[in-house]
Amino acid sequence: MTVALPTGRSFADAAELLKSAGIPSSCLASTGRRLVLEEGGFRYILAKPSDVPLYVSRGAADMGFAGGDVLQESGLPLVELLDTGRVRCRIVVAGPPGQEFRFRGHPSELMWLKVATKYPRIADRHFAKKGVQIDIINLNGSIELAPGLGLSDCILDIVQTGGTLRANNLQEFEVVSEVSLRLVASRKSAALRKSEIDGACRAIGSICLNEKLPMGF
Ligand code: PRP
Repeated sequence: MTVALPTGRSFADAAELLKSAGIPSSCLASTGRRLVLEEGGFRYILAKPSDVPLYVSRGAADMGFAGGDVLQESGLPLVELLDTGRVRCRIVVAGPPGQEFRFRGHPSELMWLKVATKYPRIADRHFAKKGVQIDIINLNGSIELAPGLGLSDCILDIVQTGGTLRANNLQEFEVVSEVSLRLVASRKSAALRKSEIDGACRAIGSICLNEKLPMGF
């Protein structure tokens, strides 16, 4: 069974869930520079978070952990096995203080707004719902730089603690969606490896369920 894991902020949660679920994964405690690790019938591939949906959909991995942001952006037809409820973030539109009035008034105020983002599809869909065409400035990271440098009017980005927005003097204008870390499979894997995937999914799901129960249960 091959599992795609996102490097970066979600890695620790994904690795911890596998361990708590009793899935052989002690190799993930110290990966070094290795990108493929194997243990007890499981192979782990360590991928850039935004690439996990592609590895899974193309069959290079049977299942994978991916953030809701990355899944929405990829648009790939994956089977969502589980919402872990971990790595809770929100996708927001944010910008320099004083610009929020544009989001409170008529949508026409937003026409041809310059929006810097690493989520061009989500941005396009979000503003299209308002009937607004925007100018997307497609960056790959450090999105918060863009308004201060005159590249964009605002940004559409993921926020977890809000620390990066605050540190760059940006404020949230609107929430686009709430996202969290999901476990996904391709339609083909979900059918062909059903019993293995169901087993792993149940084990991981029981950990997540316990976390979601209110205190006292
Ligand atoms: C994300 C996002 C913000 C930051 C928000 O970037 O694009 O920059 O995290 O997190 P915070 O609300 O906890 O401050 P990431 O760390 O994934 O790196 P990137 O800038 O290279 O995309």
